[in-house]
Amino acid sequence: MNEDIVQILAVDDESMNLLVLDYIFRKSGMEIVGVGSAAEAIQLLQQQEFGAVLSDVNMSPMNGFEMAHRMKGIEQAKSTPIIFLSGLRHDNEYIAKVYECGAVDSLIKPIDGEVLRSKVSVFADLYLQRKKFRRAIREQLEMKDRFLSQVSHELKTPLNSLYQFLQIVESGMAGELNDEQRDYLGIAIRNAASLREMIEDLMEVTRIDHGKLSVRTEALNLESCATSCIRSMRPAAESRRFTMNTDLPGDLPTVWADPKRVRQVLTNLLSNAMKFGGEGKALTLRARISPSEEQMVEISVADNGPGIAPHLVPQVFDRLCQVDQRLDIRRQGLGLGLFICRELVEMQGGQIWVESQLGTGSVFTFTLPVLGGHHDRNVADESSTALIV
Ligand SMILES: Nc1ncnc2c1ncn2[C@@H]1O[C@H](COP(=O)(O)OP(=O)(O)O)[C@@H](O)[C@H]1O
Ligand SMILES: [Mg+2]
Repeated sequence: MNEDIVQILAVDDESMNLLVLDYIFRKSGMEIVGVGSAAEAIQLLQQQEFGAVLSDVNMSPMNGFEMAHRMKGIEQAKSTPIIFLSGLRHDNEYIAKVYECGAVDSLIKPIDGEVLRSKVSVFADLYLQRKKFRRAIREQLEMKDRFLSQVSHELKTPLNSLYQFLQIVESGMAGELNDEQRDYLGIAIRNAASLREMIEDLMEVTRIDHGKLSVRTEALNLESCATSCIRSMRPAAESRRFTMNTDLPGDLPTVWADPKRVRQVLTNLLSNAMKFGGEGKALTLRARISPSEEQMVEISVADNGPGIAPHLVPQVFDRLCQVDQRLDIRRQGLGLGLFICRELVEMQGGQIWVESQLGTGSVFTFTLPVLGGHHDRNVADESSTALIV
């Protein structure tokens, strides 16, 4: 189909009127698609977009006004301009009804073809412009996505090597370090690590946008997964005089989840608690069977940091949300971590939320399905499709 030809939907129960319209719009850059009833029109409007609708009013069982009202409920048709073509008397009451149902005009039959064509061509031009504009935005967004994805891939390799060599130097393998050098190296490693996390976050979001985020669910011992996560974060916590407590009962049921993704969520929540908690504070990692749903296990990370203002709580899982406006803190992230966490938890069949009080602290909680519970089966089906992409 020629992209520059605008389709106009014509609705009339008199087939002769449709033929006349077809003739009027021949060679106009517009094309008439005719239907014999308002019901057929509604069906078609749900399937495709039109530049304008030309409709008779006096039709049965659904008349033109009712059709116009129904169009407001169809996303892609609710702003399509409607022009009525009617033999009815255009008195005040009629005109009021025309505008009340959202139509832009009404012409009395018999129609002057020239007048109708020029009126409709204004809407057709606007429609074409809107379409071109939307296409341009889509292309720009695709370009931005490609750019972000390429840049983050390109940055990742040299950064990884930088990070590894810094660690070699820090380990003393390349020679003894004095205290000052060790301090400076510590700062360099922390910054390289946070840069690596940001790049990883960017790559994850690109995967989410392309539906390519994968989870590989399996039977998982949550206690050992959480313990190893805490262990790997301990050095960072100790360097910031942060106390980490755990409450992980030994008899927790096995869950059905992706170990790598659970670690990723936990690491994100733990590092947030440390980042926003402030030096010298404490956090607690807990797990238990969900009190509201015994087929789910609930894992929470509680901190006694500054907390989040109630009106900002609903936004923290949104993409690019950064509640803390202090520049030094904002620079340590992109505001993507919790957005990624929510995606990962939901892909494993769980939910994530936060309870927080200003000045007291925050508790981030997420759930995972218990192995053999009814939730895991649904997720297992979905995760196998997620793996194919
Ligand atoms: N434990 C927490 N205490 C207070 N605020 C938090 C906590 N965790 C997250 N936030 C707020 O939510 C925002 C989003 O978090 P996140 O998506 O992980 O982004 P980032 O860590 O990159 O800033 C943070 O910028 C911060 O303002
Ligand atoms: Mg974060």
